[in-house]
Amino acid sequence: MTTFLTYLFSLFVAFAFSPALATPTVLLFQGFNWESSNKQGGWYNSLLSVVPDIASAGVTHVWLPPPSQSVGPQGYLPGRLYDLDASKYGNKEELKTLIKALHDKGIKAVADIVINHRTAEKKDGRGIYSIFEGGTPDDRLDWGPSFICRDDTQYSDGTGNLDSGAGYDAAPDIDHLNPRVQKELSDWLNWLKIEIGFDGWRFDFVKGYSPNITKIYMGNSKPDFAVGELWNSLAYENGKPEYDQDKHRNELAQWAQNAGGAVTAFDFTTKGILQAAVQGELWRLKDKNGNPPGLIGHIAAECRYFYDHLFDWGKKEEISKLSGIRARNGITATSKVEILAADAHLYVAKIDDKVITKIGPNGDLKNLIPPNFQVSATGVDYAVWEKKA
Ligand SMILES: *[C@@H]1O[C@H](CO)[C@@H](O)[C@H](O)[C@H]1NC(C)=O
Repeated sequence: MTTFLTYLFSLFVAFAFSPALATPTVLLFQGFNWESSNKQGGWYNSLLSVVPDIASAGVTHVWLPPPSQSVGPQGYLPGRLYDLDASKYGNKEELKTLIKALHDKGIKAVADIVINHRTAEKKDGRGIYSIFEGGTPDDRLDWGPSFICRDDTQYSDGTGNLDSGAGYDAAPDIDHLNPRVQKELSDWLNWLKIEIGFDGWRFDFVKGYSPNITKIYMGNSKPDFAVGELWNSLAYENGKPEYDQDKHRNELAQWAQNAGGAVTAFDFTTKGILQAAVQGELWRLKDKNGNPPGLIGHIAAECRYFYDHLFDWGKKEEISKLSGIRARNGITATSKVEILAADAHLYVAKIDDKVITKIGPNGDLKNLIPPNFQVSATGVDYAVWEKKA
């Protein structure tokens, strides 16, 4: 339940979007989980059958798993990027059918872009795995050791530039400062867009290369929507998150800015704080200046909610109701959040003077709800009011 509350909360306040994006209200849904690649009959086919439910839940964008051939079944160790037929989620035609079904309901498809590293296909003359194949009859994305960062000594013997970001242990780190890498990966993104039908990107492990590289891929592919996964641990003190996580949220905001401002970042600050807050520490949801403690106060933040919450936990009706309230009241990134209460067991916030949300078991609302607001959704440990028309 605590996790569910975490996501309920995020639907209302943790969504924040870059004003540079055309879409004013985005509700991103992660359309898979770590087990999805095992699905009998294929994940793409399985997801196809629930597209109407996803649409009625108010989802605007679905994040799909990495589409290419990969050594790991989940797709995060990709090799032949153009080979979409060897994916454990289904083949290229099934993927295109799924994306078309989403589009028919007005939903955008977001591809999981894993480009920091790649798995090599063959050994070079020295017996080291450093020869890549693109998955096409021509030489697109057929690379060798000069395309691998030279400070990556774990699995390869690269001769490219030094890595511009953090190293990745499980596969060779690609040299994104190489202009051919930039061109061929940009071409691949545009192929995913034009040939396969994807509308946007979720960039995996963006701390693996400089944010100015993300900016290049954004500029060359111009997605409808994009979000980066920049994960850093919160600061901890005696096993608990510190109250002040300004450094953490500032890193996210700084990354989004350095990446050009058109890309958003998952609000891992809010997620981490919420996980602690819902365990009887709701006071964490108000920072030292009285504002929400995560990225909400910044421009470029994003949050997601998971497949498990929508379908496997039977929360579809509740989430649909909440996304409806959110859409009806035009709640977005730039919505104003006024925190009315934040103590151990009660959190109450007013958004844009139109919606009030409460989380926590506390039944005594201390007259915080004005008479011109009426309840429109309730559940275990939460309630939502809307201003009367
Ligand atoms: C991006 O940043 C890296 C340092 O991390 C630098 O070496 C490179 O020249 C920069 N590239 C561009 C296009 O600004």
